[in-house]
Amino acid sequence: MEPSPMNSLQNHHITLLGTGLIGRFYCQALHSRRSRDRVHVVFGVPAESAADFSRAFGIPKWTTDMAEAVRDPETDTVIVGLPNDLHEQAVRLAADAGKAVLCTKPLGRSAAEARSMLEAVEKAGVFAGYLEDLCYTPKTLKAAASIRAGAVGRVLWARSRETHGGPHSAWFWDVQRAGGGAIVDLGCHCIEVIRTFIGKHVRPVEVMAVSDTLVHPIEAEDSGIGLIRFENRAIGQFEVAWTFRGGLDIRDEVAGTGGTIWLNHFLRTGFEMFTATGLGGYVAEKADTEKGWIFPSGDELTELGYADMFADMLDAMENGRPPLETFFDGYVVNAVMDACYRSAASRQWEPVDLFEWRQGTGPGSGPESAAAAQEPPAAPQEDGCVLIKSERMPDGTVKRILRNPSTGEIFQKIG
Ligand SMILES: NC(=O)c1ccc[n+]([C@@H]2O[C@H](COP(=O)([O-])OP(=O)(O)OC[C@H]3O[C@@H](n4cnc5c(N)ncnc54)[C@H](O)[C@@H]3O)[C@@H](O)[C@H]2O)c1
Repeated sequence: MEPSPMNSLQNHHITLLGTGLIGRFYCQALHSRRSRDRVHVVFGVPAESAADFSRAFGIPKWTTDMAEAVRDPETDTVIVGLPNDLHEQAVRLAADAGKAVLCTKPLGRSAAEARSMLEAVEKAGVFAGYLEDLCYTPKTLKAAASIRAGAVGRVLWARSRETHGGPHSAWFWDVQRAGGGAIVDLGCHCIEVIRTFIGKHVRPVEVMAVSDTLVHPIEAEDSGIGLIRFENRAIGQFEVAWTFRGGLDIRDEVAGTGGTIWLNHFLRTGFEMFTATGLGGYVAEKADTEKGWIFPSGDELTELGYADMFADMLDAMENGRPPLETFFDGYVVNAVMDACYRSAASRQWEPVDLFEWRQGTGPGSGPESAAAAQEPPAAPQEDGCVLIKSERMPDGTVKRILRNPSTGEIFQKIG
């Protein structure tokens, strides 16, 4: 069933599930940029956490009963900011109540869980969005638009890295509750950023990953590296760790036939402060130190993508279009991560198993751009030979490396 568009310029009445780190960021973002949308019920545990949260953000109702929060008659939209093992239950409650639902990352702890959530919202015909904020940072949006406009040519390689010293709550460290370690927690961001740059219409085909538990006394992996091969032969590469010292390191890199993009999202982005006394508390998410050289964030809600993410989600809901990040995207990310875990165990390339493939509806996902992404451009010719490379040398001459297509000979000309 298709979700029905809501009236335009609706004031959304939101139930927020979760009063932890992400609940706080989400609430601040919702109450700032689009202040007509309000969280009016919050669910959290323990009770003091929910009560304190409701007081801090001027939220009229709080509860420790998730179903009651979801079914609140005034609520039209449910936002899930709960530990990973509660996402499915929360999404099902919202779908059963006929409410729009926006779920944080990772969508599920596995592709099977994500698929059942996707099927639940589609069966109920409710609007659903995948809250992958790092696809909405202003830099990422601009980089993706530049790629779609052809600024870097054909994308060959996209790299995304997220590392920090480890998560802030007990449940993240419990592999049953979280579904995995650093790959599930941070790899999900990287994989979706990589898909955004390579093109969400390009199917991820297979994966090679390594993972290890290098530092922390836990069952789950605290570090991982993955390679994702896409159907157009572009390669995605992610690097994740809960072992990094120095703060929250989020960097991306895109290499194309016609250009390169380097993005640094959080540390050393042009705001560097030395303080002998400190700021009196919080500096920025996962900052490793509060004194000395520190790297604050000018506007963390915007720089990490939360502001643009909610604007897209709520605008999409009102305009009857899909958001940039859908539950299907969340499902694909889970399927890639499942393949990573299989590969880390088998030490082989493992296929990305998807129950179906959807081209996606975001920018650059039309059939013509899919074709363009897969077609290598014709190599330039010179006197019947193929030009491989041309470079100006230190003596001022230009050296051209050519290949004779009939003999295969590779030779150079200087001029
Ligand atoms: N950038 C991002 O998008 C981002 C960042 C951080 C966390 N997250 C995601 O948000 C979700 C919540 O993470 P968080 O960092 O807010 O976690 P957290 O531990 O800080 O908060 C979780 C909240 O869930 C509620 N809760 C309900 N039942 C609970 C239970 N049985 N055990 C523990 N908490 C329970 C509590 O109110 C608690 O405050 C996770 O899925 C996580 O992956 C996303």
